[in-house]
Amino acid sequence: MAEEVKKRVFSGVQPTGKVTLGNYLGAIRNWTPLQEQYECLFCVVDLHSLTVTQVPAELRKNTLDLVALYIACGIDPEKSALFIQSHVHEHSELCWILDTVAYVGELNRMTQFKDKSKKHADNINMGLMNYPVLMASDILLYQTQYVPVGKDQIQHVELARDIAQRFNARYSDTFVVPECLISKTGSSIKSLQDPSAKMSKSDPNDNAIITLTDDPDSIRRKLRRAVTDSDTDAHCVRYSADKPGVSNLLNIYSLCTGTSVAEAERLFEGKGYGQFKDAVADAVISVLQPIQSEQKRLAADKAYLESVLKQGAERAEHIACKTLSKVYRKVGLVPKSR
Ligand code: TYM
Repeated sequence: MAEEVKKRVFSGVQPTGKVTLGNYLGAIRNWTPLQEQYECLFCVVDLHSLTVTQVPAELRKNTLDLVALYIACGIDPEKSALFIQSHVHEHSELCWILDTVAYVGELNRMTQFKDKSKKHADNINMGLMNYPVLMASDILLYQTQYVPVGKDQIQHVELARDIAQRFNARYSDTFVVPECLISKTGSSIKSLQDPSAKMSKSDPNDNAIITLTDDPDSIRRKLRRAVTDSDTDAHCVRYSADKPGVSNLLNIYSLCTGTSVAEAERLFEGKGYGQFKDAVADAVISVLQPIQSEQKRLAADKAYLESVLKQGAERAEHIACKTLSKVYRKVGLVPKSR
């Protein structure tokens, strides 16, 4: 009997700065169960990180630390291809071809490009604008069906769909048109200092984010300082649109304990915000502590990480190579004789 072909999943995180609780709850954590059902590729997207100025030695360290973190969070390198984007040169090559299909106008409209251009006004480089096309290349190169990401990446995945459809219409059926997989609850974890904004790695205010390397004291301190809502009722732990700060904490509590938000509201009924915040801190600490110790152990084992990355890149290359040759053929490039 023919072997069942599994649908493919692709996702990635940039090795820029420190990975946050938002990255974990919105993305990485949701990847692990997919490994059972799909052929998964999980990538550390180092080329994307170059769109903002990096210290080279830090970028190298962050990249390997992130590989260790993926494994510590439950990515099994035997089941999934775990690799570094720059190790598979087809990503950049496909990006060039897709650049000829993507329109400047649509890239100019990308929310993240506009935000980052404001933040890095002294360095609005071509890579920053081209960022979503490289992301489309990551996805389309593997004929990906599903892309598990947080809400902030939906626009980029939609662009990848548009590019795939445009290419298919122009050159005949070539790419699978991908779809987003968005978690119902963790897809938009908010800043602890401004619950109208997402929790972001690049936030200059350290109190606004919980990073996956924060120690228990910092986690507790940051959560105690988290902005709760300026209503008069400080004993009302309730999930509602007019209480974005408390709602964000309830969400985090629920995701870290497996308790539903409604149950959590009941649990903290009549209790003060102080007590609630301490419970959120306990929940976050108990999720992060085992990940942190495993990450530390793995990050120290460079030989193991190298072997995982070599195997991951080989698996990825095998698929990438096939797609790229198909694309080169479709657009009319002369194949190199072997
Ligand atoms: P990055 O590195 O900014 O974020 C990695 C993942 O974390 C999610 N995320 C969040 N989810 C919930 N709440 C938050 N506060 C939060 N902050 C971040 C992001 O949605 C993302 O899923 N462009 C991507 C990386 C990338 C990629 C790809 C992803 C490059 N190529 C191909 C998927 C497929 C990015 O910058 O992620």
